Amino acid sequence: MDDPQPVDAPLTQSATFLVLTADHSPTALHTIRLALASVPEITKNISIRHPDGRLTCTVGIGSFLWDGVTRPDPRPSELHPFREIRGAVHTAPSTPGDILLHIRAERRDLCFELERQLMDKMAGTVHVVDETVGFRYFDARDLLGFVDGTANPVGPAVPRSVLVTEEDDEAGAGGSYVVVQKYVHDLERWRALKVEEQEAVIGRTKLENAEVEDAPAGEQQSHKSLAVVADEHGNEHDIVRDNMPFGSPGSGQFGTYFIGYSRRLWVVERMLERMFVGDPPGKHDRLLDFSRPLTGSTFFAPSLTQLTRLGGMRGLQGVFQIFSTNVSLCSNGGNGG
Ligand code: HEM
Repeated sequence: MDDPQPVDAPLTQSATFLVLTADHSPTALHTIRLALASVPEITKNISIRHPDGRLTCTVGIGSFLWDGVTRPDPRPSELHPFREIRGAVHTAPSTPGDILLHIRAERRDLCFELERQLMDKMAGTVHVVDETVGFRYFDARDLLGFVDGTANPVGPAVPRSVLVTEEDDEAGAGGSYVVVQKYVHDLERWRALKVEEQEAVIGRTKLENAEVEDAPAGEQQSHKSLAVVADEHGNEHDIVRDNMPFGSPGSGQFGTYFIGYSRRLWVVERMLERMFVGDPPGKHDRLLDFSRPLTGSTFFAPSLTQLTRLGGMRGLQGVFQIFSTNVSLCSNGGNGG
């Protein structure tokens, strides 16, 4: 299998989630290809200045941009835009996104510098849809006060859960589907619940992070239970989450940036359906009564090999394309003048 991007990077103290839309003109696509292909090299150039900073950047490409930047490579079989999910009470909206940069490091300055250099490289070709700066909060807690990320797979189970294999789909091999949603919390209402009520919503105890027993089938399920997805053979499928708190007490904003990496897009989509529609339908995830998604986008993080290849032959094809466009513009200009 091709080398993957650092989708399995360990939890860090800081992260930037940058979602962009892109111009699709040939010149813009050429600039974007070169910029995305240079991400591993720029990351290395910055990392060497602070080797303990564990700087990584994962690039995700959205469904609408995929063909433009990767042609003639085929599309990963499940890649499509985020599909809105409408439950009886809560909706998961679908919002635009052509490029995702998931930048992680132990230090905020490293994330900042990488984002700055990449934005410089793509200047004039991309538009910011959302930029969220996340921070690690105490012992990996979300702003609701619960430890977040416990059930993530570890060790060899990580690549098994997040990386598409050649048997799954040759076009996506070594890559990973990525879904992001930016949630804001109503902390005042959440704090009005008793701790036992909060624990029933989440499905874990608050202080010790121990699992609370699942409710019997048909009754209100916790977030933890609704987020468990099995296939028709009863096999459970994990995803890797690296959620981050974000916010600003001064402006009263408190949120969780959800990011999930998965080998199979349908697994994340099924989790979202179970949360928003409920199981049984009507009994939605009560976490949503206190957490509202503002965004929702799906990307594919290609293998590192495919990413760096974007700067190669296709880059040259882009140059030829621009060159021939300019030549024909010049000759048109000559004819006209
Ligand atoms: C579990 C918080 C959104 C998938 C958990 C846990 C917490 C949590 C505290 C229990 C500890 C753990 O295992 O990590 C949140 C918050 C969210 C959010 C604050 C947003 C406001 C989502 C979304 C998904 C998801 C949108 C999937 C689409 C999962 C999964 C588990 C989990 C798979 C582990 C279930 C298990 O196997 O025990 N979440 N979550 N979460 N969450 Fe979320």
